[in-house]
Amino acid sequence: MSFDLEKLIRPNIKKLTPYSSARDEFSGEAKVFLDANENSLGSPLTKWYNRYPDPHQRAIKEKLSVIKGIAAEHIFLGNGSDECIDLIFRSFCEPGKDNCIICPPTYGMYEVSAHINDVEVRKAPLLDDFQLDLVHLENLVDEHTKLIWLCSPNNPTGNALNRTDIEMVLNNFSGIVVVDEAYINFAKQKSFIQELADYPNLVVLQTLSKAWGLAGLRLGMAFASVAVIDILNKVKPPYNINQATQELVLKALEEVGQVNDMIRILVDMREALAEVFRSMPTVEKVYPSDANFLLVKIAEARKIYEFLLTKGIVLRDRSNVQLCEDCLRITIGTEKENTLLVDAMQDWYAAKP
Ligand SMILES: Cc1ncc(COP(=O)(O)O)c(C=O)c1O
Repeated sequence: MSFDLEKLIRPNIKKLTPYSSARDEFSGEAKVFLDANENSLGSPLTKWYNRYPDPHQRAIKEKLSVIKGIAAEHIFLGNGSDECIDLIFRSFCEPGKDNCIICPPTYGMYEVSAHINDVEVRKAPLLDDFQLDLVHLENLVDEHTKLIWLCSPNNPTGNALNRTDIEMVLNNFSGIVVVDEAYINFAKQKSFIQELADYPNLVVLQTLSKAWGLAGLRLGMAFASVAVIDILNKVKPPYNINQATQELVLKALEEVGQVNDMIRILVDMREALAEVFRSMPTVEKVYPSDANFLLVKIAEARKIYEFLLTKGIVLRDRSNVQLCEDCLRITIGTEKENTLLVDAMQDWYAAKP
């Protein structure tokens, strides 16, 4: 595999002179900031919010660097990993010309983002055991294939992809391989972040929306070579992570212990809930999960979904998704929420003739 990043970058991005913000051009100590057309009087909230945030989010990256065990220069932050996904398309894929490969059933934004960017989507569906079909994947690659999207643990199937399969793709594909690890904190498998030194074509995505419980703040992370991170930084909007998010995330990153406790509790509840569902008469299969949700194959999935809605309980109906026929995706809730769900399922069975 010969990897040439220069060949992968879109020509317009290679030539791009990025926007240089007022705060980019000044890096010393100053008392008076009259450079960015902010409101110098303050704001209705606190004075702090009248100022633009750090465009490079240095403080957060320093903390993440310690938590993740990787130098800050290998970290890019997006407004959710959804922004990272979009920026990766915009950086590498020429609209109307290049293509990407996804392995459905998988996270829907890869395809949506591809369409927004007018990038062809080629599909190598997962095998029946929800692992990669490496032969099919290889056959789809041509000279315009820039990206392969792998999601591990995968949404909505919940399983981690075989490590050796991911390595096989990394070793044999000369474009960018994105490994989306949104759910990695709930998995037994270890992250690919530590493999970045071995694979110049690897981008690992993670997020604070899942295990960290900060979906509302919108903070996604991309880990990659310095060269790839530089490209993403060139393309991103200057102030993509707002001040409130930066402040709150900095605080939250002090609480690794609390997050680990939540992960343990969620994983225990996941296994307990899986057992309860396995004992239900019309459940065909509860798939093993390395995430904070369960995929459950159950007769009359759509009807159950609608019945639960009448009880105010919302699941994700995946019954129309290929390979997930008759499946519901169930996020692990609080103890109380899980009990409400199980009780409502008993009501469903009781109401049946
Ligand atoms: C696999 C996967 N990747 C990325 C995301 C998006 O995460 P974020 O909230 O960081 O945009 C999700 C959200 O459900 C997801 O399931």
